[in-house]
Amino acid sequence: AHEISRVRNLSRLQIGLYELEPWYFSPYPPELTSSPILHICEFCLSYFGCPTRFLRHRQKCDLFHPPGNEIYRDQAVSFFEIDGRRQRTWCRNLCLLSKCFLDHKTLYYDVDPFLFYCMCVRDDRGFHLVGYFSKEKESADGYNVACILTLPQYQRTGYGKLLIAFSYELSKREGKLGSPEKPLSDLGLLSYRAYWQDTIVDILLEQKGEVTIDELANMSAMTTNDVIHTLQTLGMIRYYKGQHVICLTDAILAQKEKLKERQRIKGKRVLDPSCLQWKPPV
Ligand code: COA
Ligand code: NA
Repeated sequence: AHEISRVRNLSRLQIGLYELEPWYFSPYPPELTSSPILHICEFCLSYFGCPTRFLRHRQKCDLFHPPGNEIYRDQAVSFFEIDGRRQRTWCRNLCLLSKCFLDHKTLYYDVDPFLFYCMCVRDDRGFHLVGYFSKEKESADGYNVACILTLPQYQRTGYGKLLIAFSYELSKREGKLGSPEKPLSDLGLLSYRAYWQDTIVDILLEQKGEVTIDELANMSAMTTNDVIHTLQTLGMIRYYKGQHVICLTDAILAQKEKLKERQRIKGKRVLDPSCLQWKPPV
């Protein structure tokens, strides 16, 4: 617990075609953190302080996608499911990398109880990691996400929302309601709030007639708590003729129009549930 709150210990990371500046401390071996650049193999995620050793590794490394099953593929992205117990080294390496961008505690060594859902973009060189989330194989608290990360070079372009959408799609297949593990970081909270609002408003716009909180929860796989909290935050629960009713306000509808306009310009990343080939692990 002391380790992880220490100050940032790496100056630069090089991964694939990108050079990144870490945000937080990560427990890479101390003898490597004095190198000006830590080189990370973008496929096996192993790390090297010495550029020559890194290049030698790249000539030998024959991995070109994460070491698991590809369970989703659409035009733009692929998702791989990776078992922490079966791919211990790879998952530990992923945790070391992601700790660079996560402030609070994350696991590094005990990856066995987790599955890792890794999102990649494809080109002729391979499947490039964009982001991931981890998920406990058994969550007593009903969490459907433990940690979630979009690598900085891909942030703010809608991939986070796609990761979140994927996590809820898995919950739908499990027939469960889910929620991310708390506490969320500031960026995590912003992203979840944006996703929750968008999801609920979309359902309300599609549904004709009355919808209950439970129906909203079941259609989105969000917990009733998260549904209620989202509706309250948005001022969408009104008291009318002795009853609570859910209503879309003009402000919400105006926000929705703005989002649609931004997505029309930037392109919206959407998940296609028919591209998911997956059954809940038994
Ligand atoms: N400032 C303001 N709003 C932000 C934001 C920022 N830096 N980053 C995300 N948001 C909000 C926006 O509303 C955004 O939607 P918009 O771009 O349409 O306005 C929405 O969140 C989703 O953004 P998106 O581009 O889909 O997310 P992302 O790919 O940048 O990923 C995280 C979001 C949280 C995964 C990413 O910030 C991250 O990896 N952070 C570090 C790790 C972390 O804190 N994880 C969560 C705790 S476990
Ligand atoms: Na996110």
